[in-house]
Amino acid sequence: MKNIMIIGATSAMAKEVAKLYAIEGANLYLIARDSEKLTRMQDDLIVRGAQSVQVNIFDAENFDSHQALIEEGFQTLGSVDALLIAHGSLPDQERCQEDSLKAIEEININGISVISLLTHAANIMEKKKSGSITVITSVAGDRGRQSNYVYGSAKGMVSIFLQGLSQRLNKSSVHVLDIKPGFVDTPMTSKFEKGVLWADPIAVAKIIKRRIESNSNFSYAPGFWLLIMTIIKSVPRVIFNKISL
Ligand SMILES: NC(=O)c1ccc[n+]([C@@H]2O[C@H](COP(=O)([O-])OP(=O)(O)OC[C@H]3O[C@@H](n4cnc5c(N)ncnc54)[C@H](OP(=O)(O)O)[C@@H]3O)[C@@H](O)[C@H]2O)c1
Repeated sequence: MKNIMIIGATSAMAKEVAKLYAIEGANLYLIARDSEKLTRMQDDLIVRGAQSVQVNIFDAENFDSHQALIEEGFQTLGSVDALLIAHGSLPDQERCQEDSLKAIEEININGISVISLLTHAANIMEKKKSGSITVITSVAGDRGRQSNYVYGSAKGMVSIFLQGLSQRLNKSSVHVLDIKPGFVDTPMTSKFEKGVLWADPIAVAKIIKRRIESNSNFSYAPGFWLLIMTIIKSVPRVIFNKISL
């Protein structure tokens, strides 16, 4: 029976991951900011077969609460086989350009809060010498683009952090995984027009679980984003600066 901790558990992608583990009878520890959504999820996951579902509330920007939050989760579960960090917000890029406090808020939610939580969790898992840590970052972190570079820079910061963490924790048999989704049809992207490149959160959740179980360190989701991002990253800056993306 697996012990799974999910931060940002009410995200559409995280919810689908939780369902996959519930079917297998896992013990789930869910952390999110909305207690009503969490209670609904708790009931649903028990019906789906979870052995136990415990919940806790957090706000990503309340950094002072992170250590106690992580410690409580580890104490409640005893040991954590898999930790997934999924929370995030998609900012209005233009607003961030006009208001530096908004830009900082978005960097805090998408970047700094994740690094803060990872730091506490990594120190515990390093001592226990087991388990896996997965973070949902984004293809947006691969290259800064004018349309979303505040969000992209926060995600890119987390991806670089994960690279180093992965190398450090490899020595302690703790597996670190960076999941980079492309376009996924979730509440975060509800206002966007959908097209062929869009994936649904169920498909992405399956990729996440599969990658956790195969001890991968890194995955685009779906995989075809590897090709797209390889092309985007290879465009010389002098040309890239002339296109609108
Ligand atoms: N959708 C995409 O196309 C896409 C692509 C690449 C990467 N991603 C990343 O995938 C992850 C999951 O997003 P999603 O697409 O599943 O979107 P979603 O369903 O809108 O989920 C976003 C989650 O972040 C939580 N959240 C936002 N601000 C928070 C804060 N200040 N404190 C605590 N929790 C906060 C939300 O809580 P509430 O439920 O309370 O609102 C929700 O659980 C995010 O990290 C996102 O950046 C998404």
